[in-house]
Amino acid sequence: MDALLELDAVSATIANVAVLRGISVRLQRGTTVAVVGRNGAGKTTLLRLLMGFVPRHGGRVRFDGRDLAEVPARLRASLGIGYAPEDRVLFPSFSVEENLRFPCTTTGMARPAIAARLQQTLAIVPELQPLLGRSGAALSGGQGKMVALGRAIMAGERLVLLDEPFQGLAPVLAQQYGASLQRLQQLRPELCVLVTESNRSLLKDIPDVTLVLERGAITA
Ligand SMILES: Nc1ncnc2c1ncn2[C@@H]1O[C@H](COP(=O)(O)OP(=O)(O)OP(=O)(O)O)[C@@H](O)[C@H]1O
Ligand SMILES: [Mg+2]
Repeated sequence: MDALLELDAVSATIANVAVLRGISVRLQRGTTVAVVGRNGAGKTTLLRLLMGFVPRHGGRVRFDGRDLAEVPARLRASLGIGYAPEDRVLFPSFSVEENLRFPCTTTGMARPAIAARLQQTLAIVPELQPLLGRSGAALSGGQGKMVALGRAIMAGERLVLLDEPFQGLAPVLAQQYGASLQRLQQLRPELCVLVTESNRSLLKDIPDVTLVLERGAITA
């Protein structure tokens, strides 16, 4: 079967600096792929490019056989791509539950489908249940990361992008986060998860495949 996500010689330039240089990788369904690299290597830029927030300068990205260039950023969640940014970015005026529902409501998913998705998300990340009524502004950094994971799972039926999720998580939360990723793969065997980290030891044995990003290029 074809890969779910195929990058072919993908480059990105920000402020005249080549930040991603000729990246070619194939991500298969049902795998967790880690991209590890130092600060400034281009990990966040790679995920933002996949979401359509950073323009591509050359190369091609195909998702499930379709050229992603045809799909504007605001429609990528409706392809089943979920994203948990490094800095979480929750809506402070929304409750946690509203934050979780947000990517599904904006893409026009039917209410019963959203309710089912929420139930599955709570089964995968049970720590979210007691936080549902809480304001998005009233969370600790670690709780915010769990909510950002939940939101990415709500949208990301096929591909979930997680930017340095373990960075700064207390050991107990890191263990809960890892357990959630395990349940996620069990409940969605076709899902592809792309996770970045600068400290690869934080990932323990979670990834099936580890790619190394150095100064914008994949080296291993
Ligand atoms: N908006 C921007 N303007 C200018 N340069 C940028 C911008 N965004 C990223 N860069 C540059 O692109 C390079 C890659 O940045 P990126 O944030 O993708 O790295 P990263 O691997 O995610 O780093 P970190 O581990 O610190 O999160 C860096 O040299 C950074 O300075
Ligand atoms: Mg980053």
